[in-house]
Amino acid sequence: MPANKKLLVLPGDGIGPEVMAEVRRVIDWMERRRRVSFEITEGLVGGAALDAEGTPCPDRTVAAARDADAVLFGSVGGPKWDSLPFDRRPELGILRLRKDLGLFANLRPAIVFDPLADASSLKADVVRGLDIIIVRESTGGIYFGEPRGVHTDSSGKRVGIDTEVYSEDEIARVARVAFDLARKRRNKVTSTEKANVMQSGRLWRAVVSEVHKAEFADVELEHMYADNAAMQLCSRPKQFDVILASNLFGDVLSDLAAALTGSLGMLPSATLGAVGADGKRYALYEPIHGSAPDIAGRGIANPCAQILSFAMLLRWSFGMEEDARLIERAVEQVLAGGMRTADIMQAGMARISTAVMGESVVRELDKIAV
Ligand code: IPM
Ligand code: MG
Repeated sequence: MPANKKLLVLPGDGIGPEVMAEVRRVIDWMERRRRVSFEITEGLVGGAALDAEGTPCPDRTVAAARDADAVLFGSVGGPKWDSLPFDRRPELGILRLRKDLGLFANLRPAIVFDPLADASSLKADVVRGLDIIIVRESTGGIYFGEPRGVHTDSSGKRVGIDTEVYSEDEIARVARVAFDLARKRRNKVTSTEKANVMQSGRLWRAVVSEVHKAEFADVELEHMYADNAAMQLCSRPKQFDVILASNLFGDVLSDLAAALTGSLGMLPSATLGAVGADGKRYALYEPIHGSAPDIAGRGIANPCAQILSFAMLLRWSFGMEEDARLIERAVEQVLAGGMRTADIMQAGMARISTAVMGESVVRELDKIAV
């Protein structure tokens, strides 16, 4: 039996705990059937941590994340905590983890699962077979830049300030992740910015071009203004392979890309750090959907994005490609068999609960695993 793989599980808020429970079924199945074992620790983050410990990201959670080989994250936030002061928002849970662990590359696939092509708001033939990935910078830019805050100017009026700052090293390292990834895919990177209006955007374009020329000349590179990229995503999404974006543009473009797949409840993501001197790479995996407080606690949330985040974790943190594929195939088979949670429900399909979706994935795994 190979050495234990250390996982930190952070269910968080809203539907997080419900969908995480279904991942546990998949993990149990893997331990039974795939001769692998995981050492799982659970921790608090977001509103759950605020309620229990008065802070959205306790030091203990950060320490446990550093100690783990990989973090499986649920989601944070909800109306219960909306009125808290800015420095105590549940969202700080994920922001601090990204920052403290140096998780600078946020990989967000937008994939149309074939059985769901009709669920998109776009025409099925525009999205059928869509498989693109957004590489979003996630520890810099306007999310963290100084100065920031709300102050009162000399006329007594309030002024809100955020600052977009990017150093060339920050741009270069995330660009490398995008180029590397493209080589394993269709070999094309579309780098987005607003070089026409932003100084940081001018630098972004220049640095991406330099990295490309020096290290990745074999990859096709295209530059696109971020607003145009939003438009192109809605009109001809299949022209893209890897989209590279800053923290803020990546936040917006990844929601857009995910929504147009019609499968928001299906999409996982990975956030990766640099490979350290000891070979260790911090990594966190989370679904793209949020905490969905409107449906939390009703047993109707779609657990597939969380389950597929676990598949991504196996692939990226443990090199377990075959196992990752098994899980992905099992999910696709359940969909092909006509099972649907409420978010992806279509006429003529069987509407099932969160738990039944989890059980169905495990049943499918039993069928397809040798
Ligand atoms: C995301 C979310 C977060 C972000 C929030 C919850 C802080 O929207 O992961 O896309 O803006 O990065
Ligand atoms: Mg977002």
